[in-house]
Amino acid sequence: MPSLNLVPASTSDYRRLAEKRLPRNLFDYIDGGAYGEKTLNANVADFEKIQMQQCVMRDVSNIDTELKLLGEDLALPLALAPIGLAGMMARRAEVQAVRAAEKAGIPFCLSTVSICSLEEVAAAATKPFWFQLYMMRDRGYVKDLLSRAKAAGCKTLVFTVDLAVVGARYRDVRNGMAGGLSGLGKLRAALEYPTHPGWLVDVAIKGKPHTFGNLADFVPSAKSLVDFKAWVDAQFDPSCTWQDIEWLRSIWDGNLIIKGILNSEDAQDAVAAGADALVVSNHGGRQLDGVSSTIKMTPRIRDAVGNKTTIIMDGGVRNGQDIVKALANGAHSVMIGRPWVWALAALGEAGLDALLRTFKAEMDVSMALTGAPTLADISDD
Ligand SMILES: Cc1cc2nc3c(=O)[nH]c(=O)nc-3n(C[C@H](O)[C@H](O)[C@H](O)COP(=O)(O)O)c2cc1C
Repeated sequence: MPSLNLVPASTSDYRRLAEKRLPRNLFDYIDGGAYGEKTLNANVADFEKIQMQQCVMRDVSNIDTELKLLGEDLALPLALAPIGLAGMMARRAEVQAVRAAEKAGIPFCLSTVSICSLEEVAAAATKPFWFQLYMMRDRGYVKDLLSRAKAAGCKTLVFTVDLAVVGARYRDVRNGMAGGLSGLGKLRAALEYPTHPGWLVDVAIKGKPHTFGNLADFVPSAKSLVDFKAWVDAQFDPSCTWQDIEWLRSIWDGNLIIKGILNSEDAQDAVAAGADALVVSNHGGRQLDGVSSTIKMTPRIRDAVGNKTTIIMDGGVRNGQDIVKALANGAHSVMIGRPWVWALAALGEAGLDALLRTFKAEMDVSMALTGAPTLADISDD
């Protein structure tokens, strides 16, 4: 485990630093997964099982990781995934993240349930960022939100479809997120704040307001994050089907990415419904525990929809080598969730800048030593 005095070299170093910096319940919220966390662990373990093929004596003096994705020029096939409540882990985290993503030449995706609003992020951004949507029962609210996203300059909508109901996360239950803490438990939880003074000053005090930025106008009566969360949970629409994509298309004329696909049939339905791209995702192992890892399903989904459909995958990507493995298995690009929040929580924007530089450097080395100087050279050999 790295000491605080050493330079973090890898995603797991940032994770350890974030663990030291954050109160227990916040670290567990970000780090944990659904139920026994089998899928969460499989996402990472299945990447580790894939071996690369060393390949020598090719001209690898110029490594090119650039690509065009949905009309955007990217420096590497990577995006920052939507993360709800990120602004509780680092001060105005979504603003720091959009700036870091721009510097790295990759997209940032803002969650519906972010702390910073669309407008706050737009004020910090110099080019379009992506916006993620959950389908709410109140379609008027959805329409309004999409108008705001458009006004904020978003051209790409990521519609998340794997949260019809919310999976239980044991760590959150244990931390009393749904209540039930004993008197001693409450005392222990309260002591987490003064024992994490860095987070307390920087985020809890200087990082206010702590409301769901995009929803504040809709639920003015909610006094706390717990009230807000209860409102949001009650608003998710479990009756949503592929037919709703048609309606979504009628009010959104930008790119539409469907996130949360984990089987071939759903992938084909998403393409038939008019998705411009899909994200092979199991919500980072936070929803249905026991389902397959995403890297395992990616080649099957690619085979089901063909190479013409843009496939993004997420879940378990922890370094630049994983990006190369994902591309070799049929993805065009990947997203990272927890790693970007760990880096911001650990060392702020400079931490995320450094992590993204590390991903790029790891990708360069992996491509060079597998004899694949361009993305098109990456294959499943
Ligand atoms: C704390 C946390 C909050 C998340 N919030 C959202 C969200 O608001 N919207 C969404 O579409 N996905 C959300 N996700 C899922 C991520 O977008 C992404 O699919 C997942 O984190 C990828 O796995 P990884 O963390 O292993 O990289 C969340 C994930 C985490 C860990």
